[in-house]
Amino acid sequence: MTERKFDPRHIHKLNDTKRLETLNPDYLWAFSGLKDPHVLVDVGAGTGFFAVAFAEKMNGGKIYACDTADEMIAWMQENITASYADQIIPVKSKEASIPLSDAIADLVSMINLHHELKAPEQILAEARRLLKPGAKIMIVDWKTEETPEGPPLKIRVAPGVIRGQLKKAGFVNIFESDGLPYHHILVGEKQAL
Ligand SMILES: C[S@@+](CC[C@H](N)C(=O)[O-])C[C@H]1O[C@@H](n2cnc3c(N)ncnc32)[C@H](O)[C@@H]1O
Repeated sequence: MTERKFDPRHIHKLNDTKRLETLNPDYLWAFSGLKDPHVLVDVGAGTGFFAVAFAEKMNGGKIYACDTADEMIAWMQENITASYADQIIPVKSKEASIPLSDAIADLVSMINLHHELKAPEQILAEARRLLKPGAKIMIVDWKTEETPEGPPLKIRVAPGVIRGQLKKAGFVNIFESDGLPYHHILVGEKQAL
């Protein structure tokens, strides 16, 4: 069976600035449609590469950078927290649960994570729980076509499947972009009650 999880021995790959050419944080930020967010939750944050890029776009506030791997949490604690002391908070999460309170977030982001998830329905339910009413989830993952880099095609998840999972989890106003060369993006909204 193909291993889905990112191998922490390749941690340096996550910090390769060449990634910014194909996975431009400015594009992601604009596509999310965020307006002056205060709290972000980045699930599967890895080394916090995108948490840092997003922190630079916020006027203060907090980003909870969640990951299941001890190596990633340790890396963020050693390399990020000194410069972003009160802004980026590494959080050790579990495969299907995130130890944060309800309705705290303006955005939950999941970048290059979806193909690794063992329980996508449960993580989407967690994302929904963490979001404020009307707030958004943004899922960015590899296109289901050959790309010069990325995980094996057979474990990638088609945007139609992600859309179905989002709907089932109670997200509305789902819109999608394939404007990036190797990634698709889906953004959905937690319906305000
Ligand atoms: C391919 S890396 C992407 C990291 C980061 N988003 C980026 O693009 O730089 C995927 C990360 O998700 C983490 N991960 C896998 N399953 C997870 C889950 N259920 N909840 C939180 N993190 C998870 C892995 O440990 C790994 O650090």
